[in-house]
Amino acid sequence: MTDLAIGLWGLSGPNTANGIQLGWDEVNRPVDVLKRAFELGAAALDTSDFYGAGRGELLVNEALSVSEFANIPIFTKGGLRQSGEAKNGTIPRSFDPDYICSAFSASYRRLGERTVDTYFLHGPTIDAFTDGRLLRTLEKLRDEGRVRRFGLSLRRSGLKNPAYLQAVSNDTFFDVIQLPISPLYADVVTQLRGGLFSDKILFARSINGHGLLLKDAVDENDFSSSDHRRGLLDEAFTEQVRKTAVVIDRFSRAIGVSRIRFLRSYALAVNVEAIILGARNVSQVEEGFTMNLAPLDDDILRAFHNELK
Ligand SMILES: NC(=O)c1ccc[n+]([C@@H]2O[C@H](COP(=O)([O-])OP(=O)(O)OC[C@H]3O[C@@H](n4cnc5c(N)ncnc54)[C@H](OP(=O)(O)O)[C@@H]3O)[C@@H](O)[C@H]2O)c1
Repeated sequence: MTDLAIGLWGLSGPNTANGIQLGWDEVNRPVDVLKRAFELGAAALDTSDFYGAGRGELLVNEALSVSEFANIPIFTKGGLRQSGEAKNGTIPRSFDPDYICSAFSASYRRLGERTVDTYFLHGPTIDAFTDGRLLRTLEKLRDEGRVRRFGLSLRRSGLKNPAYLQAVSNDTFFDVIQLPISPLYADVVTQLRGGLFSDKILFARSINGHGLLLKDAVDENDFSSSDHRRGLLDEAFTEQVRKTAVVIDRFSRAIGVSRIRFLRSYALAVNVEAIILGARNVSQVEEGFTMNLAPLDDDILRAFHNELK
C-alpha cells in the first residue's frame, strides 16, 4: 500500500529568491486544508524551510497542535536560500555543514521542536551529498534524536543528468529519494521500473505536473505573478505540457478515467512508499485522499510511453 502525504508548498503562499518566483497565490485557511487531509488519513506531511520563506513549517506546527494529529510524521528540507550568490537565473543554495546545521535548527524551532521523520537536502549537487563533513553533521542530528532519517529531494535538472542519477544510485547514506513521478519525466519512470534506486525508499511528488497536466490549456498569462508556474512555462516546457496532456487524454479516454485518475494510476506504477499530494483547497484534498486506484497496467504504460516519444 502506498501512503498519501499532503504537500505544503502550494499552501505556503508567495515566495521569491533572488527575484525568482517560487511560490503560489495565497490560499484560504491553509490549516483547514491540512486538517481535512489528516481527517481523511494523510500519513505524513511534506514541507521545507523554503516554502513561503518558513511559513510552511509554521503552518505544520499550527496544524499539529491539535492533539489527535500531533504524531503525524514530518518531512522537511534544507539547502535553498532566500538570497545569496547563485549562477544567473538559479536559486541560491548552500549545503555547507555550518549552514545546514543552522538551517535545521531554525526549521526545528518553527516545527515546535518535533522530531523530523525525514530531513531532505533540497536539490543538492553531487559535491554536497558526498561531502563527509556534511554527512557527519547530519549523523549528529540523528544521534540527538532530532531526525529519524535523511533523504535527497531531486531537482528537475538532476533527472536529466545521467551522471547525477548514477551518483545518487551509488550513495549509501540517504535512505529516501523524493522526485516527480509524472509523464513529464517518462524516461526516469522507465529507469525506476528497470531498477534505478531499487535500494532506496521513493517518495513521488508533483504527480499532476504542479497541476499543469490538469488544465484544459496552459498559458503563462493564466497565472498571477506570485504563482511559480508563470516562470516555468517557457515555450519549450509549455509545448511539452500541451503534447503530454493530449496523449494523456487519448489514453485516459480509452480506459474510461479522468486525467487526474490516470495520473494517479501512472504514479502507482512505480514502487513508491508515499505519494505527496499538492492539493490547495478542501475539495481537492477530498478528491485526492479518497481516490482509490490500481497501478496502470504494464501494457498500457508501455504503449503510453511509446506515444510520448
Ligand atoms: N524540490 C522539491 O523538493 C519539491 C518540488 C515540488 C514539490 N514538492 C512537494 O510535493 C508537493 C506536491 O507538489 P506539486 O504541488 O507540484 O503537486 P501536483 O500534485 O503535481 O500539483 C498540485 C496542483 O494540482 C492541482 N490539483 C490537485 N488536486 C486537484 C484536484 N482534485 N482537482 C483539480 N486540480 C487539482 C492544483 O492546481 P491548482 O492550484 O491550479 O488548482 C494543485 O495546486 C509539494 O507541496 C511539496 O510538498 C517538492
